[in-house]
Amino acid sequence: MAPRWNVVWITGASSGIGRELALKLADKGSLVAVSARSADKLAELASLNPNIRAYPLDVTNAQAASAVAARIEHDLGPISLVILNAGVWDLMSATDFSLGTARKSFEVNYFGVVNALEPVMKSMLARKDGHIAVVSSVAGYRGGGAAYSPTKAALISLSEALYPQLKDNGVKLTLICPGFIDTPMTEGKPVPMPFRVGVVQAADTIIGGLERNKYEIAFPWQMAALMKFMRIAPNWLFLFIAGRTMRRIKAAQALAASGDGARVER
Ligand SMILES: NC(=O)c1ccc[n+]([C@@H]2O[C@H](COP(=O)([O-])OP(=O)(O)OC[C@H]3O[C@@H](n4cnc5c(N)ncnc54)[C@H](OP(=O)(O)O)[C@@H]3O)[C@@H](O)[C@H]2O)c1
Repeated sequence: MAPRWNVVWITGASSGIGRELALKLADKGSLVAVSARSADKLAELASLNPNIRAYPLDVTNAQAASAVAARIEHDLGPISLVILNAGVWDLMSATDFSLGTARKSFEVNYFGVVNALEPVMKSMLARKDGHIAVVSSVAGYRGGGAAYSPTKAALISLSEALYPQLKDNGVKLTLICPGFIDTPMTEGKPVPMPFRVGVVQAADTIIGGLERNKYEIAFPWQMAALMKFMRIAPNWLFLFIAGRTMRRIKAAQALAASGDGARVER
């Protein structure tokens, strides 16, 4: 059977969600171009399945992103699905606020998406065909991390702006909003991660949603429901809950730092 997508491009595919998506889509018969900065990890990934091809890229470099998109289309054919997934999660609060961290987060998480999106979207619009997947996060529904959440909120807003125009021109767009997933990104982060799910389950959920042409894939359902409620909650309620959660996290981190983590109160 022919694959659903002939040619897929995934950014941020050297680990975590992107890597798992690459393996699964290649197993289903798609030619999968994988990008990230770590060329060695991409080469190792490509060695696991002949349908996977490595195209190293730093997504913050717009020129390089355009060049890679053109090379993929030249080597493999028109990109039928692009998964704009590369991202970083830097913890930052009001007390350690830094322009550098905020800027880096936007350079990777937002402009990294835009840099790869521009050439692919042009090509898809010219063909009136294709599927764009933007990996945001439930953290973008309402303020959480001072560096991370604004970047993911911007992606949600960008997707809402583009979807209707793309639809009228034959191009699909899917917004992906995961909750906590067990990947190198979450490993060792000193924050509570309710309802965290494994990366295999995450990739299955994402591919299932893409195959059904969903606009939004938000999961796991418990975290999605909680954060969607927060999105519509009045400010006073959201700010009260956010303040309480922040104080609990700080207390847990202080206890963990003092080596008495076992006594953290829930
Ligand atoms: N894990 C979660 O709980 C979770 C929840 C919600 C949303 N997400 C989102 O899901 C996406 C994937 O995250 P993950 O959990 O799979 O994390 P991950 O394992 O840390 O993967 C992040 C990927 O992004 C790549 N990357 C980072 N900076 C890059 C750059 N400048 N240029 C190109 N690639 C870059 C990394 O590769 P290199 O370092 O080799 O470049 C890596 O392949 C991210 O957008 C993340 O925000 C994750």
